[in-house]
Amino acid sequence: MGKDVIIACDFPGKAETLEFLGKFENRKPFVKIGMELFYAEGPDIVREIKARGHKIFLDLKLHDIPNTVKSAMKVLSRLDVDMCNVHASGTSPMMRAAIEGLTREDGSRPLLIAVTQLTSTDQQTMERDILIERPIDEVVMKYALNAKDSGLDGVVCSPLEAEKVHSVCGPEFLTVTPGVRFADGDIGDQKRVMTPAEANRIGSDYIVVGRPVTKADDPVKAYERCLTEFTGGI
Ligand code: C5P
Repeated sequence: MGKDVIIACDFPGKAETLEFLGKFENRKPFVKIGMELFYAEGPDIVREIKARGHKIFLDLKLHDIPNTVKSAMKVLSRLDVDMCNVHASGTSPMMRAAIEGLTREDGSRPLLIAVTQLTSTDQQTMERDILIERPIDEVVMKYALNAKDSGLDGVVCSPLEAEKVHSVCGPEFLTVTPGVRFADGDIGDQKRVMTPAEANRIGSDYIVVGRPVTKADDPVKAYERCLTEFTGGI
């Protein structure tokens, strides 16, 4: 599995998204479509971007009863996305149902990764709000192992957790890491960040990069810099 940079297309609608992607001409970056864009434009935005030749990570973070998640995943597999995700806190039966729904008749399926604990949840919130009193690190690793044992391909995690996830779940288990910034860039609202080169060193398989590319004066140049730093110029 090759390492890749996924651009978070956090735009409010189709016009802004297609204008942004139009800047890339012959390059076809892997893009992430999140809830905002998907809820605004519906499945057509996925079909349109797919038809332009991009790979798509559809970041909808499903979490419901197993049967509902299975049916929803069946729809996503027909949409031909390349990667999608669920919350690991939906538990192993839900994750196994997700895999079942996602698997097409010919046995192929998009990559499925799990969100462990959201990086917006800290130890204190976890203890007070959801009464989980174990160390957050331990919770993240247990969720990652549940995902692996349920047949998922990897997890979304902080770049700071990627190394440990690989040591617990094995090197083949994918780590998809947001929170990436250039060494000379603005960190914005992200708290714990890494450069693309650091993310590469600690073993991230995919980095998800939004504003350092989407808000750059020259997004294509920023994307290429990211790719070069992350893949070490390979
Ligand atoms: O603009 P920026 O590079 O911060 O965008 C990061 C992307 O990754 C956003 O789409 C954000 O929602 C997503 N993300 C994140 N942290 C997580 C999970 C997802 O920043 N823990």
